[in-house]
Amino acid sequence: MLYRLARTAIFRLDAEEAHDLAIKNLSRFTGTPLDLFYRQSLPPRPVKVMGIHFKNPVGLAAGLDKNGECIDAFGAMGFGFVEVGTVTPRAQSGNDKPRLFRVIPAEGIINRMGFNNLGVDVLVENVKKAKYDGVIGINIGKNKDTPIEKGKDDYLICMDKVYQHAGYIAANISSPNTPGLRSLQYGEALDDLLGALKSRQAELAEKYSKYVPLALKIAPDMSDDELVQVADALVRHKVDGVIATNTTLDRSMVEGLPHANEAGGLSGRPLQNRSTEVIRRLHEELGGALPIIGVGGIDSAMAAREKMMAGAELVQVYSGFIYHGPHLVKDIVTNI
Ligand SMILES: Cc1cc2nc3c(=O)[nH]c(=O)nc-3n(C[C@H](O)[C@H](O)[C@H](O)COP(=O)(O)O)c2cc1C
Repeated sequence: MLYRLARTAIFRLDAEEAHDLAIKNLSRFTGTPLDLFYRQSLPPRPVKVMGIHFKNPVGLAAGLDKNGECIDAFGAMGFGFVEVGTVTPRAQSGNDKPRLFRVIPAEGIINRMGFNNLGVDVLVENVKKAKYDGVIGINIGKNKDTPIEKGKDDYLICMDKVYQHAGYIAANISSPNTPGLRSLQYGEALDDLLGALKSRQAELAEKYSKYVPLALKIAPDMSDDELVQVADALVRHKVDGVIATNTTLDRSMVEGLPHANEAGGLSGRPLQNRSTEVIRRLHEELGGALPIIGVGGIDSAMAAREKMMAGAELVQVYSGFIYHGPHLVKDIVTNI
């Protein structure tokens, strides 16, 4: 109810201004009596995935807290894990504004942010400051001006810097808003990247006497053949988890709606069925070899349950959280 009122005010603002204001206030309110507005205590629903203990299986998806500025606020809302990033080696401003749009009648969002972030060093400092007792995933990517052939180096730079501070690391090769990025999902480029990340993970595990799982985040816009090949690569390289899915380029679910023709990735309810289908196919192919983290259009406990029935062991929310607020986390954790 409270969120519905707040949402009316928030939705009067431009989408990115609203986002920036929310992040600023959340980081200011946490630890003060004002965090009463979003603090909620949830029943424990412990799960062990990728060898890590989660107090519940509901996480915040990457991209909302790109710089790790509000980890404790999201912790106070009851999230079992918070994925920060995508972070790149160097700070970058992202694409020109406007670059974030609500597709309200469909409860969708279109974004072409382009990995705007303050760089990996700032993110690491913020993660170090966090008091959150849940799992912090760190999502890594490449700078826009790094040529795609050298993209691997950016992932390795980020991995080196975040390894010690992450509960798990997610390599994002599926954003549609960094030119060429999605080409890393296929064939030799994928093999080369996964081989490099896994061998660096082994070195870092030795160095820090700590094994930090590596997950790969994939797009929903793959053919069945491509999905089968990705699944095969994940198993061959012993990747620890897969996050399915990122936003979609497909607009068939929002045709004719305001902003539907904006360039970028579409998320929220219009993505719900497609991402569940990808999870189902992946689950068939993987046969439990590695766990799936399901994300895409989750806007209720029922939608989360569908993802889990399709094979996801953990779920994440982004757009549903924007439309429904912290209560969505409580609803899912309580009713899953
Ligand atoms: C504004 C916005 C920014 C995003 N930024 C990132 C990002 O930086 N890295 C990433 O891996 N995913 C990013 N995503 C994708 C989400 O993490 C998620 O995979 C996708 O939105 C589908 O989930 P949803 O339907 O619950 O939003 C972003 C999504 C939105 C809406």
